[in-house]
Amino acid sequence: MLPIRDCVRQTPGYTPGEQPQTPGFTKLNTNENPYPPPQSIFTGLQTELEKVRLYPDPVSGALRRAAGRVYGVESDRIIAGNGSDDILNIAVRTFVNPGESVAFLDLTYSLYETITKVHGANIIQFSTDDKFELDKPLICPDAKLIFLASPNPPLGKNLNRAYLEETCKQAQGIVLIDEAYVDFSDDDHLDFLDKFNNVIISKTMSKSYSLAGMRVGFGISSQEIIEEMNKVRDSYNLDRIAQFLATQCLENQDYFQGVWQKVRNTRTRLIKELRALGFIVFDSDSNFVLTSPQWMEASDLYNKLKERQVLVRYFKHPRISDYVRISIGTDEEIDRLLDTIKTLHES
Ligand SMILES: Cc1ncc(COP(=O)(O)O)c(C=O)c1O
Repeated sequence: MLPIRDCVRQTPGYTPGEQPQTPGFTKLNTNENPYPPPQSIFTGLQTELEKVRLYPDPVSGALRRAAGRVYGVESDRIIAGNGSDDILNIAVRTFVNPGESVAFLDLTYSLYETITKVHGANIIQFSTDDKFELDKPLICPDAKLIFLASPNPPLGKNLNRAYLEETCKQAQGIVLIDEAYVDFSDDDHLDFLDKFNNVIISKTMSKSYSLAGMRVGFGISSQEIIEEMNKVRDSYNLDRIAQFLATQCLENQDYFQGVWQKVRNTRTRLIKELRALGFIVFDSDSNFVLTSPQWMEASDLYNKLKERQVLVRYFKHPRISDYVRISIGTDEEIDRLLDTIKTLHES
């Protein structure tokens, strides 16, 4: 018998969304940005490539300074991560002893469950209401760490601000507000950092900054919290290419604000057209929508779309087994999705 820790052996492991290895798919399943970053970010890349012999900056200094300018905080209040998943992992390992508890919602980003379990910590789950929303503050004095994503997947809406504030006020541990999708919404929670000393905001460059393949994210908090998290971080957690391209992207705010607006416009159109086809569709503050076809099982819709090379996300979770989650693509991709759905609807 191999000496595998019980908590690892008992964890099923995280199931990421499918990344098809053959071309031709319209990929609307993992909330990537449908638009590439601007071509100008690649200027100077060759110089970086020629330096691959050398270790990258261990503290991602230039990148953190660029992030500090965008988010309006000093760079010593920012930790850079290999994707925001890295930040979430570092948070569990910094604040929670095995055997202690981590709290989160029943319907949210499923990685919270995996990283808590493999750490040997306990899970305290809070139910969302029948519209999949947080309907009261999440009060949990036993939790060393509370994960709350706002906007929260798979629904995609921002959490109620007053409930979130009360959650932070009452928490005995750390509250990590995961803002992976916040650039597609009207609101962020950076002001919480001034009001509460137990809050971390996590950000990712995978969605709004078109860099899912580069794996870059941030944690923003007090200097004291960031200093402790830095001890847990792998010393060279971001490679030099990721640091370089992410810094360039952060310095192209105008370009990306245009991209976010395009995504939001397409989101409005998709919601309207799906509703016209009889779907239940929730409003969304993210680059995806949660929707139920009504005239067909959601799992059938997922399978039939996939047969026609359109990939959306279907979750086996019993509360959302009637739903699929659709990422916002380009207008052409959404046309292809809608045309395929119309054909299925008519047949
Ligand atoms: C709520 C939430 N947080 C974090 C992430 C992970 O982002 P990253 O690519 O930065 O690791 C995701 C990815 O889907 C997400 O949905």
